Amino acid sequence: MLYVDGKWVEEGQVAVHPEDRGYNFGDGIYEVVRIYKGRMYQWDGHLTRLFRSAKEIKMELPWSAEELTDLANQLITKNNITENDDASLYLQVSRGSAPRVHDIPSGIQPVIMGFVRRKDRPVADMKKGLTAQLVEDIRWLRCDIKTLNLLGAVLVKQYAKDAGAQESILHRNGVITECSASNLFVVKNGELYTHQADNLILHGITRQVVIDLARNNGITVHEEAFDIAFLKQADEVFLTSTTAEIMPLISVDGVAVGNGQPGPVVLTLQDLFEQHIN
Ligand code: PDD
Repeated sequence: MLYVDGKWVEEGQVAVHPEDRGYNFGDGIYEVVRIYKGRMYQWDGHLTRLFRSAKEIKMELPWSAEELTDLANQLITKNNITENDDASLYLQVSRGSAPRVHDIPSGIQPVIMGFVRRKDRPVADMKKGLTAQLVEDIRWLRCDIKTLNLLGAVLVKQYAKDAGAQESILHRNGVITECSASNLFVVKNGELYTHQADNLILHGITRQVVIDLARNNGITVHEEAFDIAFLKQADEVFLTSTTAEIMPLISVDGVAVGNGQPGPVVLTLQDLFEQHIN
């Protein structure tokens, strides 16, 4: 069952308005929420970010936090997600439909849509790590907004795949920002480095969990920009996201990171994360 614009519908019955602005312009916002053992993880953080994204694109959400929480819980129960299931919940809000103009039509009503999919944790990849390719960050200058307009993310990920890598690491004029759908961390001399939470990256929920876990366990974290040269001499590199969790990157542009295996700091953080979600 999906929830679309106030109605519960089966897949295949969903009709998109031809002038829906999410569809025409990518004019809307979204969240991807992890469900571990039937329960939402970090829901409050996702909800706060959804309201912030809405505000930043000048969209007023006509639903309260309680109503959205109720909707998310209904998506879980109506799709029979139980304590035996790991899953992912997708929620998007389009600006709504109106005759096609670029500026924001007045009186337009946002359209919400949500669905849930069973999804296993990427356990094998987290043990082994992924390969990465540096790609120029061609996205816009408001990467802090979780917008439906994802063509930049689509292309950078594809460029990395075309080059034979599994993940893209993005840089703007040589400064590392994040990955196509995740945040990036490097480890140098036992300390973590990740781009500061400004307009050039998404303020990832998992990024913040990792920063907090690290600091609470005596690992120093630097939230500051660093360049390609710093990345290339890092001891460890990893990415974080709701679906990828804490994912080691074992090579960059075909060159091994460290000894080409997930390193001790990333393994420690994975352990801490495991305890945190259980
Ligand atoms: N991606 N950076 C970007 C550009 C992202 O799209 C995401 C999330 C993240 C990590 O944020 P979080 O830890 O809150 O998931 C960082 C989601 C999962 C997606 O688009 O599928």
